[in-house]
Amino acid sequence: PLVALVLAGGTGTRLYPASRSDRPKQFLPLGGDRSLLAETVARADFADHVVVSTRPAFTDDIADHAPDAEVVVEPAAKDTGPALVYATHRIAASYDDPVVVVLPSDHHVGDGFAEAMTSGARVAADTDSLVAFGVEPTRPETGYGYIEPGADRDDARDLAAFHEKPDAETAARYVDQGYLWNAGMFAWTPEALFSAARDSPLSPLLDALDDGDADAGFAAVEGVSIDYAVMERAADAAVVPADFEWDDLGSWDALERIVDADEDGNVALGDDPVFVDAADNVVATDGATVSLVGVSDLAVVAWGDRVLVVPKEEAQKVREVVSRLKRKE
Ligand code: GDD
Ligand code: MG
Repeated sequence: PLVALVLAGGTGTRLYPASRSDRPKQFLPLGGDRSLLAETVARADFADHVVVSTRPAFTDDIADHAPDAEVVVEPAAKDTGPALVYATHRIAASYDDPVVVVLPSDHHVGDGFAEAMTSGARVAADTDSLVAFGVEPTRPETGYGYIEPGADRDDARDLAAFHEKPDAETAARYVDQGYLWNAGMFAWTPEALFSAARDSPLSPLLDALDDGDADAGFAAVEGVSIDYAVMERAADAAVVPADFEWDDLGSWDALERIVDADEDGNVALGDDPVFVDAADNVVATDGATVSLVGVSDLAVVAWGDRVLVVPKEEAQKVREVVSRLKRKE
């Protein structure tokens, strides 16, 4: 069967203060009526089964946002590498000949998604390659992985090289060279993942899982994302085009790419703000009525008892607020 494996164990920091360590981005409704996780589970209906992967701290939230999904809770939070090896191992034990499609739960995704996922799953099943999904880049974003496409295959191309989160200069070069953004979605058979993981920092976990001791495996394995641990060193991988609207919603300025603006270019999430001589701002609230007068190009967020004001183009720096607050705690 086709099994959608939804990743929902991350802690978003750049969407502070809406996103906090105990309530990360996947549990927020961003631009829709439901949380990003609920949206992700709903759009996974192209698969025969949906499994949600998370860390221990979020089990109650998963029950709220994805009540009907099967849940796999990893023993410890060690990033997506260990989480995906563990969940895929569990899926391999529960289903006959599964093909796994990995879906992050922190994205905005448009039409054509199900077709692309089904096509990627077919390539994974037919070739036993690791399959990534490539998005045409529109800017030299440093928060993404970059894929160098190689020779043509049926419905796919070879994945010639994978580079996770390059610096700004390198990212600009990759965009010029026609590299693709990694959508963070993957398709694989358990055999393909395990054979790649065997040659990777994830091998201590795989060995322990084969011995039936997940706790020992998580104690032994380093915290590392699947992108660094497996994709950057994969010997046999393919890339399928992600021909659908896609946004990672990584920082507040991303809202203007998914929410319609008013005639002055202002974008609002939550209650209607009052704008007087204000243009090209992004406002997000969970109840407060915000008013902006005579300012432009700001992101203003009022959430719970927290307020954030930042120039849109510096929205990535919100990460720094979170680390300073953490030091104060
Ligand atoms: N179960 C589990 N456990 N899930 C996790 C964990 C964990 O320890 N850590 C993160 N996740 C989930 C997040 O909730 C998210 O849905 C997904 O895994 C991806 O993690 P992020 O931390 O958001 O990764 P990223 O955005 O920095 O980078 C990835 O996505 C980019 C596209 O958005 C990479 O795959 C990049 O290459 C890619 O371009
Ligand atoms: Mg992400």
